[in-house]
Amino acid sequence: MSTINVSVHGGAPNETSADTRVVPLFDGEQPSDEAIAAVVESGEAKPGRGKLALVHEEAAGGGTRRVIVAGMGKRDELDPEKARVIACAVAVRAQEVGAENLSWHAPPEVAAAVVEGTLLRLYEFERFKSRDDSEDEDASDDSLGGLELTGEGVSEELVNQAAVVAYAVNRARDLQNLPSNVANPEFLAARAHEIADDFDTLELEVFGREAIAELGMGAFAAVAQGTDAEPQLLVLRYHGGDQGPHLGFVGKAVTFDTGGISLKPGAKMAEMKFDMSGGSAVLEAVAAIAELSLPITLTAVIGATENMPSGHSVKPGDIVTSRQGKTIEINNTDAEGRLVLADCLDFAVDQGAERIVNLATLTGAILVALGSTHCGLFSNDDTWAGQVEAACTTTGELGWRLPLHEETAKLVKGQYADLDNAPEGRKAGSITAAEFLKHFVGDVPWVHMDIAGTAWGLNRPYVGSGASGFGVRSLIELARSSAGA
Ligand code: BES
Ligand code: MN
Ligand code: ZN
Repeated sequence: MSTINVSVHGGAPNETSADTRVVPLFDGEQPSDEAIAAVVESGEAKPGRGKLALVHEEAAGGGTRRVIVAGMGKRDELDPEKARVIACAVAVRAQEVGAENLSWHAPPEVAAAVVEGTLLRLYEFERFKSRDDSEDEDASDDSLGGLELTGEGVSEELVNQAAVVAYAVNRARDLQNLPSNVANPEFLAARAHEIADDFDTLELEVFGREAIAELGMGAFAAVAQGTDAEPQLLVLRYHGGDQGPHLGFVGKAVTFDTGGISLKPGAKMAEMKFDMSGGSAVLEAVAAIAELSLPITLTAVIGATENMPSGHSVKPGDIVTSRQGKTIEINNTDAEGRLVLADCLDFAVDQGAERIVNLATLTGAILVALGSTHCGLFSNDDTWAGQVEAACTTTGELGWRLPLHEETAKLVKGQYADLDNAPEGRKAGSITAAEFLKHFVGDVPWVHMDIAGTAWGLNRPYVGSGASGFGVRSLIELARSSAGA
């Protein structure tokens, strides 16, 4: 995606040098600008949320300027999520009419949300599409180069932070979108290197196949044993300050999930390039947290591997020993995410993490239970769960908590080993996956976010149906909110 330069304009909204400006129109309020009041009067511009009208005005330096009058609904009903959606509609219209610079007069409380909605909506992933020269010209013509926020009380700091956050989401979407023949585990490691090189506050440690085995990570190693691609355990340590607890972010990064010997059906298998969405969200959230210099301590652990069938793959019925010592009967090689995460969670605990969140496209069952509106939240600690849920609500990356229970805990007990990775009957499939993970976090407050239904196909207007970068914004928000705790 081409970069959009985000800034704050301190002067009067109509004194901007932008070629297009956005004037909000609230239900029951009179616009102060006469020309705009006239189009409202005539019924051409409407205050209904997301309704747009396009008018022209004389610009200060001569010539005309476009004005998009944006319906905002009732002022007291506006919230950041509604503002993201409105900003997204405006961005589309602005692009259609060829705006190069957009000046948005947003209420200060939603200025950050307007930045997010705009930058997320204008993201595109087109690097593998060839174009002829004439199409190229069109493409450069219709891309927005500048976004300016204007209005009294708009905070430059919050606007700049929102841009950092939105770009992190878009980078995570790039990693998601890249096919698995490009974005393999070593590619993710190279990206982690780039991030660590950019900030003195970050340290990176990378473990390959042998080192993973030496660490005793028998569960992770079992998934990786079928692939020729070198698996990578990525450990990013961020030292930004000592406010709040030491956080642990853990991500599943299965760069392609064929199912292994328990092979998936062919239909839609291509989607399984997204099975690294948790890891990519963690990676780019850490980059943003470092860029924002948040005053916390954080350890991020990302388990990256392919899940492939081959002559040396793990087979159904095989028993492996996790790093923490529990033995696992692998009854379905397609339940690989929990195996990778088991060793990564246990490792994060050993690194001293005091509050853990893991993100994983873990179960198809979460799509059946919650669709794409909420991700699934599972936790062993009500306070921490509340804090994570609150971060999700703030960002609009909604989460819904599902229960753990001693009865569902029993379902993951193994017949021949301590644990079974794929209980027969598939009852409460997302919950049993969480019950499995719970064995590897000890007493540390932990939340598992099952993002299999939200990492792509989220269909929020500002991210559409492809890769959503889900979780990046909530992780950053969580880092912010726990700095105060
Ligand atoms: N990566 C998948 C989960 C998934 C499925 C994500 C569909 C998005 C869409 C995961 O590794 C998996 O295959 N889970 C199995 C577990 C089962 C074998 C116990 C599943 O959900 O079918
Ligand atoms: Mn799988
Ligand atoms: Zn998977």
